[in-house]
Amino acid sequence: MNPMFRGVLVVGFSAVAAATAWAQKPSNTVQEIERYRELLQDGNPAELWEARGEALWKEQRGPKHASLERCDIGLGPGVVKGAYTVLPRYFADTDKVQDLESRLVTCMGALQGISESDAKKVHFGNGPKKSVMEAVVAWITSESRGMKMNVSLDNPKEKEAYEIGKKMFFYRAGPHDFSCATCHSHDGLRIRLQDLPNLTNPRDAQRAYTTWPGYRVSQGEVRTMQHRIFDCYRQQRFPEPGYASDAVSALTMYLARNANGGTYNAPALKR
Ligand code: HEC
Repeated sequence: MNPMFRGVLVVGFSAVAAATAWAQKPSNTVQEIERYRELLQDGNPAELWEARGEALWKEQRGPKHASLERCDIGLGPGVVKGAYTVLPRYFADTDKVQDLESRLVTCMGALQGISESDAKKVHFGNGPKKSVMEAVVAWITSESRGMKMNVSLDNPKEKEAYEIGKKMFFYRAGPHDFSCATCHSHDGLRIRLQDLPNLTNPRDAQRAYTTWPGYRVSQGEVRTMQHRIFDCYRQQRFPEPGYASDAVSALTMYLARNANGGTYNAPALKR
């Protein structure tokens, strides 16, 4: 990247940063890293979300008093082990490419009779207001730990979703004329203390994708890939993308496919 552009990026970014959670919550980086280390010693708090998620998966909920245990999240009804490594993928019953969260909304409707708006209501938890979705996703993803990402583009709709996701990744707009690629298509870029992964390069893409969801120390919550994308769109000063929308599934398809072959290792611990 030429030095001029790097300068513009830094200046542009400091304006963006003012709108971010870090700015709302002035944090002493050294203290935060210290807290992070302490947490590492005690294990990852995400385990609490995983346990709650497993219980929620098996609990009879919604107007139909049914559990999610027959939900097909990619490898057939009820198969959880390894399912996250093949997502997003095409599902014939909805005729759509879906990521995990979009798929769970489908199953909550079909199996439990929970309306789409109810299923999406508390998509991001906040303190005592816990999200069913974040917990179930934490559990399901944990069941893919140690397995290799294996996202297919065999179905034409999968290929189409990948191409749409790629367009979204490089699409520049907004007050700073940023795209995802502005921050995530260069090697060795950093903002403050954070390394910005080059998500177009398989090594970085694998490392980044396989460590989400994450327990975010700065937020005290487990955050999913939907939230990561929401948060980065906020940094881009774009309008908030629809939760579990086809657009987010497509962008996730681009990120996940670029991470193929990487060993999945989440929920992780994140800043
Ligand atoms: C203004 C710069 C900026 C833009 C634009 C941006 N991001 Fe980010 N992104 C960040 C920062 C900062 C982080 C956090 C790095 C950290 O905490 O370690 C991040 C983290 C991520 C991560 C997780 C990386 C990891 O290793 O945990 C993903 C995935 C991601 N961004 C995807 C996107 C996508 C998709 C877009 C476009 C919608 C986007 N980003 C746009 C700055 C940006």
